[in-house]
Amino acid sequence: MTHITFANGDKMPMLGLGTWKSEKGKVFEAVKTAIKIGYRHVDCAPIYGNEQEIGEAIKACIEEGVVRREDLWITSKLWNDSHRKEDVVPAVKNTLKDLSLDYVDLFLIHWPVALKKGVYLATSAADFLSLAEIPLEDTWRGMEEVVHNGLAKHIGVSNFGKANLSKLMGTSTIKPEMNQVETHPYFQQNDLLDFCGENGIPLTAYSPLGSSDRPSALKADNEPNLLEDKVIRSIAESKNAAPAQILISWSLHRGVSVIPKSTNDQRIRENFEARNIQLNSEEMEMISNLEKGRRYLSGEFWVFENGPYQLKDIWA
Ligand code: A2P
Repeated sequence: MTHITFANGDKMPMLGLGTWKSEKGKVFEAVKTAIKIGYRHVDCAPIYGNEQEIGEAIKACIEEGVVRREDLWITSKLWNDSHRKEDVVPAVKNTLKDLSLDYVDLFLIHWPVALKKGVYLATSAADFLSLAEIPLEDTWRGMEEVVHNGLAKHIGVSNFGKANLSKLMGTSTIKPEMNQVETHPYFQQNDLLDFCGENGIPLTAYSPLGSSDRPSALKADNEPNLLEDKVIRSIAESKNAAPAQILISWSLHRGVSVIPKSTNDQRIRENFEARNIQLNSEEMEMISNLEKGRRYLSGEFWVFENGPYQLKDIWA
């Protein structure tokens, strides 16, 4: 499977370029390189701070005749400070301006967490609005307006567990069409994958390579390194492949879209070539035995004393 097909027939390439942590000054070349070698899916978000440069790269590729807009799949996300229904359309318009686009293919609620307007990252409990103050269902109505206004072709969510997803599925006229979550062999999310599968909601895997370039504040001590995993390395060696390629291929074999981030020319190519790697059932089984229940992105940065969010509610 190379694409995920949506209910209206639109097709999203399963392998995309991730841009979280892609630095300004590097991301322009990274996106251009990726599009030139054949990537047609780029995953973005305003909180990554680089959408303007990504927009310039997309524009350059279109102007140079490398690709047509309609052949690209561009995803972006709603930041947590714009969860009020009336803030959603202005937020997507800002993103579209930065990306130099008229529409995005997919627009996601980035987190089931609301921040006060203008707060980018929380530093105290006072920065938050609770879900009682801004229910996710209200935010979703704003998301539906984004589709009705032609600013996004599809809408979905990110970092949603079953309970938060269910809130939207009950009330919405447009159901969520994607859930982007952390998943890799150490955190396979099989339960969520099954639940989403039963409800026709595909998953996209972020941090598929373990996101070792996260800022140290977002890292735990003694984190296991996916790319150094013995099983992953031995399967890679047996195929003359790179460990990252095995991780990407594993995701594709599970039917999960995957967005490895790289700003390195050679690794952008290497990751794209993972489409051609076949894993047999024995290899898939060896990888599924690696489950550790290990999130790299814990979500603890949303939890403050006397704040309205607890991890159990965020991941519910
Ligand atoms: P770089 O951007 O220098 O290539 P994730 O997608 O899980 O967030 O992981 C991103 C991290 O993995 C970055 O540090 C990125 O570095 C690195 N990376 C991306 N592709 C590969 C690869 N093929 N082999 C090794 N590391 C990679």
